Amino acid sequence: MNGHLLIIDDEDSYREDTARLVRKRGLTCTTAPDGTTGLRLAEERRPDVILCDLMMPGISGIEVLDRLGGVCPEAIVFVVTAHATIETAIEALRRGAHDYLLKPVLFEDLLAKISRALEVRDLRREVRTLRREISRPEETFGIVGQNPRIREILDLITRLPRNRPAVIVRGETGTGKELVARAVHLVGDPPGKRFVALNCAAIPDHLIESELFGYRKGAFTGAIEDREGHFERAHGGTLFLDEVAAMPLSLQAKLLRAIEQKEIMPIGARDPVPADARIVASAQRDLRDLVKEGTFRQDLFYRLLVVEIVLPPLRERRDDIPLILEHYVRRLTAEMKVGCEGVEPDALRALMAYSWPGNIRELRNAVERALIVLKGKVLRREDFPRDIVAGAEEAVGHDELRLAVRAYEREHIRQVLAECGGHRERAASRLGIDRATLYRKIKDLGVPGLDAAE
Ligand SMILES: Nc1ncnc2c1ncn2[C@@H]1O[C@H](COP(=O)(O)OP(=O)(O)OP(=O)(O)O)[C@@H](O)[C@H]1O
Ligand SMILES: [Mg+2]
Repeated sequence: MNGHLLIIDDEDSYREDTARLVRKRGLTCTTAPDGTTGLRLAEERRPDVILCDLMMPGISGIEVLDRLGGVCPEAIVFVVTAHATIETAIEALRRGAHDYLLKPVLFEDLLAKISRALEVRDLRREVRTLRREISRPEETFGIVGQNPRIREILDLITRLPRNRPAVIVRGETGTGKELVARAVHLVGDPPGKRFVALNCAAIPDHLIESELFGYRKGAFTGAIEDREGHFERAHGGTLFLDEVAAMPLSLQAKLLRAIEQKEIMPIGARDPVPADARIVASAQRDLRDLVKEGTFRQDLFYRLLVVEIVLPPLRERRDDIPLILEHYVRRLTAEMKVGCEGVEPDALRALMAYSWPGNIRELRNAVERALIVLKGKVLRREDFPRDIVAGAEEAVGHDELRLAVRAYEREHIRQVLAECGGHRERAASRLGIDRATLYRKIKDLGVPGLDAAE
């Protein structure tokens, strides 16, 4: 065992015998014959564990206990007492003692208790370290960033009113919209309530309604049993409508009704079901433009627009690149179990010059790929994907025709996809190619943030 024990007891032989025995087991031990000396030694020596007798001349054990809190709060205190004063021992527990021991104390019992107390000490230390890590100022809810616009967003999230207002989160792909939505949920929803996400762009139009509102057995072919929809599952919590712009107009009306009435109509149901979920919606484009174009209902827009959070693209907060990079190098090295100590300045310069159309997701993926090919101890420029680090110089003009065409194709596809809110079928039809070709191109060209896996 490794730790420091302080024994406060007026009974000389008990005190000195115990001290001798615990020292044999590897503990450091300090002794005090009375409470005053005990308190002084506790302050000076900072023991891990304290054994304190309750019946002593001078100040009593209970008083020592009370004052120990101010002198040496991290110590774990056991009070030692005879049967006759068991009430006092219980009083001691109320005042913060960890446990009590009855005299005569059996040495093996004592050792077992000390050993457990030392485990508690180790756990407490670990919790303290973790807390410190979690509350690192640059990192909240997993959102890394010191840029003033990000700090402002974090500040806004923590100050959201308690009535759980609807929130629209807008930003390019990979800027952290979902991360922000989850933060809003963590801060504002009662514990135990769900965060339920529905990606409106990823689901074919005719299925969105059944996903959103659920259905009753027999409502349509294949509805073999009742199924709860996302809205109902999010009751009391948050429903995250990802890419809300992709929701068909007909459904937008039903959604508005559900939000206003706080009840939903599962497909095939006779009666509405109460369901009250706070809505957080994400969009890549400004919904105002969609309202103007007539693809988004104005009344729904105003219902959702209680709070609007606009996430800046990474290229407008380049100052955060080193921080986010360091965050992912640290996290991914641990996950992937590779030894990497950091990023070479030359590589960092190139990464900071790049435009990051796929934003933070693209940065994260780049770090992951680089760690896979990493040879030495630090990430060098050549470890990163060529089109990212080469971009620093090529950004203005690609000399080689093939590269220039590729770069143009990639950018064009990204743009069209973004305009279609990530909806691949629509994007393919606008591009005049079929869906399979679009998928292949996304993969080949590495269109940021839209890997086939996602
Ligand atoms: N500020 C940040 N700090 C650290 N990681 C971040 C930050 N913002 C986003 N990320 C990470 O980047 C990735 C993309 O974030 P997220 O899924 O929230 O983006 P998004 O805006 O919803 O993208 P999309 O529009 O493509 O769905 C996630 O892995 C997320 O953890
Ligand atoms: Mg998202």
